[in-house]
Amino acid sequence: MAQVDIVSLKDNADPARRLRLPISDDSGRHVGDLQCIDRSMLDEPDLIDDLTRWRNQSMPFFLTQFSATEERTRQWLETISLPAADRILFVICDPGGNRFGNFGLCNIRPGAAEFDNVIRARASDIRNLMFHCGMTMLEWMFSGLGAETAKLHVFSHNEKAIGLYKRLGFAAAESLPLRRTEEQGAVKYSIVDRSDANAGFDYLRMELPVEHFRQAHPGAFSTPPAPTAPAGNDRATAPCRPW
Ligand SMILES: CC(C)(COP(=O)(O)OP(=O)(O)OC[C@H]1O[C@@H](n2cnc3c(N)ncnc32)[C@H](O)[C@@H]1OP(=O)(O)O)[C@@H](O)C(=O)NCCC(=O)NCCS
Repeated sequence: MAQVDIVSLKDNADPARRLRLPISDDSGRHVGDLQCIDRSMLDEPDLIDDLTRWRNQSMPFFLTQFSATEERTRQWLETISLPAADRILFVICDPGGNRFGNFGLCNIRPGAAEFDNVIRARASDIRNLMFHCGMTMLEWMFSGLGAETAKLHVFSHNEKAIGLYKRLGFAAAESLPLRRTEEQGAVKYSIVDRSDANAGFDYLRMELPVEHFRQAHPGAFSTPPAPTAPAGNDRATAPCRPW
């Protein structure tokens, strides 16, 4: 894995130095950026409000389901998301800075990283916006971070998300049984043995190896791939620490 200091990227306090991953459409036109949520972004007007609203509107699609509040979102960003060396969250912005959702990575480790917190918040004039965001993220994972495999988890009944991930090239690798529990007003789904499952749907693990991505999208790499990870990088994926 390339030596990218994820924590320093998020520690940045200067908006001009913020990590911005350019999003291009099919013709290569710049249609926006994935802007890293760093310290410089925390006080942008309505950011916390947007993230909170988007999370609430997409709550049924995530492992932990609760009532998001601005206070809880800010606390999660400051105490969990920003300090974590293995996760990063981006806001999807058009060139005018208008926000359309968020797209993150978690479980960043030698050889692999996992899509996390993928949310399309509203419509836009940009066709296939989430596909282009996914392509941008995959290019950064494979070229910038030096990942050899992109991974993700998705509820097996989330057809829209699975459709997007298949268009990007992901294939199902495993179907994990889930158990639903309720505690202090929050719903939580946990991976369990099949005999203990009660959710009515599974947690699908999907994967995309870098060589499949290169074959499917030969023009995708605009920069040479970064050095690859050392051996011994295929340890089991821990589910992402939920927001
Ligand atoms: C999964 C998801 C990101 C896929 O987004 P997508 O690739 O745009 O695919 P959809 O089938 O949802 O959208 C199809 C069309 O509906 C419209 N659309 C999608 N989300 C919209 C929204 N929130 N508001 C208005 N219109 C929307 C768009 O026109 C889109 O087409 P376009 O990209 O060409 O403009 C999106 O459905 C979403 O945010 N779902 C809720 C959260 C979720 O499930 N996350 C994944 C967890 S693993």
